[in-house]
Amino acid sequence: MAFRVRNPNSLSLLLLVSLLSIASAKVFFEERFADGWENRWVKSDWKKDENMAGEWNYTSGKWNGDPNDKGIQTSEDYRFYAISAEFPEFSNKDNTLVFQFSVKHEQKLDCGGGYMKLLSGEVDQKKFGGDTPYSIMFGPDICGYSTKKVHAILTYNGTNHLIKKDVPCETDQLTHVYTFILRPDATYSILIDNVEKQTGSLYSDWNLLPPKTIKDPDAKKPEDWDDKEYIPDPEDKKPEGYDDIPKEIPDPDAKKPEDWDDEEDGEWTAPTIANPEYKGPWKPKKIKNPNYQGKWKAPLIDNPDFKDDPDLYVFPNLHYVGIELWQVKSGTLFDNILIADDPEYAKQLVEETWAKHKDAEKAAFDEAEKKREAEESKDDPADSDADDEDEGDAEDAGEESDAESKLESEDSDDAKEADKHDEL
Ligand SMILES: *[C@@H]1O[C@H](CO)[C@@H](O)[C@H](O)[C@H]1NC(C)=O
Ligand SMILES: *[C@@H]1O[C@H](CO)[C@@H](O)[C@H](O)[C@H]1NC(C)=O
Repeated sequence: MAFRVRNPNSLSLLLLVSLLSIASAKVFFEERFADGWENRWVKSDWKKDENMAGEWNYTSGKWNGDPNDKGIQTSEDYRFYAISAEFPEFSNKDNTLVFQFSVKHEQKLDCGGGYMKLLSGEVDQKKFGGDTPYSIMFGPDICGYSTKKVHAILTYNGTNHLIKKDVPCETDQLTHVYTFILRPDATYSILIDNVEKQTGSLYSDWNLLPPKTIKDPDAKKPEDWDDKEYIPDPEDKKPEGYDDIPKEIPDPDAKKPEDWDDEEDGEWTAPTIANPEYKGPWKPKKIKNPNYQGKWKAPLIDNPDFKDDPDLYVFPNLHYVGIELWQVKSGTLFDNILIADDPEYAKQLVEETWAKHKDAEKAAFDEAEKKREAEESKDDPADSDADDEDEGDAEDAGEESDAESKLESEDSDDAKEADKHDEL
C-alpha cells in the first residue's frame, strides 16, 4: 500500500484528478474588477432623488498588495450604496453553491455593512435598493460595539431567515475573504480567508421550516409525578422545649442607673434585646427527595405542521449579484466576487488573490499608519488642544470596544456552554 501511494505515477494521477475537478468547476459569475467592469455593473438610482446615493471609487485603496488590483470602494460618508450585476439565470439544485468575495474596511468602520446579496428572477437594476427582495444576503456587518458579525440570511417562502449561529467577522482595516458554501445535502459552511468559521445544517441553524418535533400539547403531568427535589426530613424532630425559647430577653448587660428612684421612676426593668438562642419557628431540615423524578417534560411528538422540503437549499432562479449598503463612514472596498459550484476553485482563487497579496498589504498598511501617526504628532505639539484630545479618546474607545466585543463573544460562548449543560 505504502509503496503504491509513493509511486510517482499515482501521485501525478491524483494531481491530474484534482486539476480536472477544478477545470470542470462551473463559474456563474466572477468579477475581479479589471477594465470594463462598468459594462457589467449597473448603478442604481435608489436614493438619488434625496441626494443620498453614494459614489463608488474604482481603486486599489490607500494600502494594498498590488496597486493594479482594483475593486470598488464606497467613497462618501452618510450615503446609501446600491449596485448590481447580472449573470445567466441558474438553479443550484443538485449542485453546491459557492458565494465568495473580498472586503476591506479602510475606514475604521464603526457602523456599516460589508455584505452582498444574490437576487433571483427579474430585477429592475436601476431601482435596486433596500426593499428589493433577495435570496441570499451574506457578509460582515459592524455597528457599534455589539454588532460585529457575519450575516447569512436565506430567503425561504418569501421570508428572510437569519442564521441562528453567532459568526464573528473581521474588524481590522485589511482585506478579508468571505465564503458561503451551500450543499445539496442541506449543509453549509462559512469561511473567512479560507478558514472554516461555522458549518452545519440548514435544518438546525435557520428556522426555515417549522420544527420537526414539538412537545406533545395533549401530554399532562401525571398526578403522582414527584418533582420536589428536596423534602422535609421525616426523621427530624422538634427539640424538647424549642417553643419555650423567648424571642427577646432582658439585656443582661443593662444596669439600673445609679440615680434611679423607684418611688419616683417606678420599678426599673432592664430593656429587652433579641435572644440569640431564638431561631424562629421550628422547621425540619430538608433532605434530597429519594423519590424525585426530575422536572416533568412533555414528550416530543412529530410536528403535524412539519413537511420536509427536499429542495430546502434550492434557489431556482439566481440571476443577479448586488451590493446594497448604508454607510456612516465610507471606505469599504469590494473585490474578487465569485459565484460558482466548486469550493476547491473558490479556495484556489483566494490563494491566487488574497493570500498572495496579504503580506504586502499588511506592510503597506503598517507604513501608512506610521506616516499617519507621525503627521498627527507633527500637527499636535505636546500641548494639544481639545479637538485632538477628543480624537485620541475616540480611538482609545475603539480599541477598548474590540477587547470588549471579544469578551462578549467569549461570554456568549460560555452561555452556550451553560445552555448545553442545562440540556444535558
Ligand atoms: C479614490 O481612492 C484613492 C485611493 O485611496 C484616493 O486617492 C482618491 O482620492 C479616491 N477618490 C475619490 C473620488 O474618493
Ligand atoms: C409559505 O408561506 C405561506 C404564507 O406565509 C404559508 O401559509 C405556508 O405554509 C408556507 N409554506 C412553507 C412550506 O413554509
